[in-house]
Amino acid sequence: MMNLILLGPANAGKGTQAKKLHAAFGIPQISTGDILRQAVKEGTELGKQAGPLMAAGQLVPDELVIGIVRERLAQPDCAAGFILDGFPRTVPQAEALDRVLEGLSKGLTAVVSLEVPDDVLAERAAGRRSCPRDGSVYHLTQNPPKRAGLCDLCGGELVQREDDRPEKVKARMVEYRAKTEPLKAYYEKRGLLRRVEGVGSPEGIFAEVRRVLGRP
Ligand code: AP5
Repeated sequence: MMNLILLGPANAGKGTQAKKLHAAFGIPQISTGDILRQAVKEGTELGKQAGPLMAAGQLVPDELVIGIVRERLAQPDCAAGFILDGFPRTVPQAEALDRVLEGLSKGLTAVVSLEVPDDVLAERAAGRRSCPRDGSVYHLTQNPPKRAGLCDLCGGELVQREDDRPEKVKARMVEYRAKTEPLKAYYEKRGLLRRVEGVGSPEGIFAEVRRVLGRP
């Protein structure tokens, strides 16, 4: 059983490392950002509420994301573990997660915090390109697609996320510092926090993530 949280600011590499954890350990990646973007694309009620806030780089209300995660964690594929990518992001979300896990008789294994300096985060945001069809993520120089501007997997046209534009990146950083960073102390007190230097090759960072999890 490996029940994980990946913590870190926008563009820290949470999604990149979550995919590697999923491939190595077969446990699902639960990205609230991906779930919300899908809802926006489908035009659901959730998407209509979340869309404008996401585009502005602000967090969506706690009760919306808590409901999503509560339902998702009860699915059978989470029996052997899960990777929460982008949740919790506020102390009330963390407290709600504690209650959900208690109800499921589960506990957290570790909270991995990816530590990346602001200038590196800004550079990653500027270079990130995503496939709106299948969610694949690239970087113009660090992880370019085989054919410029096109997704390797589905051939779809790659786009820059609206919230990766410089002024939105700043807004997301402000939200992170004010509302999410306090979670490090929340989990450190419980002995769950594992800090990982998030600069270097994705493979090197993954090796460090495995090491701090005791699964080298
Ligand atoms: P979300 O989608 O979760 O965005 P985020 O946390 O801001 O994270 P990102 O997806 O921007 O980055 P990442 O850390 O996953 O980095 P990645 O691996 O892609 O959330 C979006 C929005 O949804 C929020 O702003 C909010 O509005 C809402 N939301 C979501 N969850 C919420 C919640 N719980 N509560 C309230 N609102 C919520 O990597 C980034 C780039 O860098 C890529 O191009 C990648 O190829 C590259 N890269 C990765 N690792 C490396 C490396 N080691 N070296 C070089 N390049 C690298």
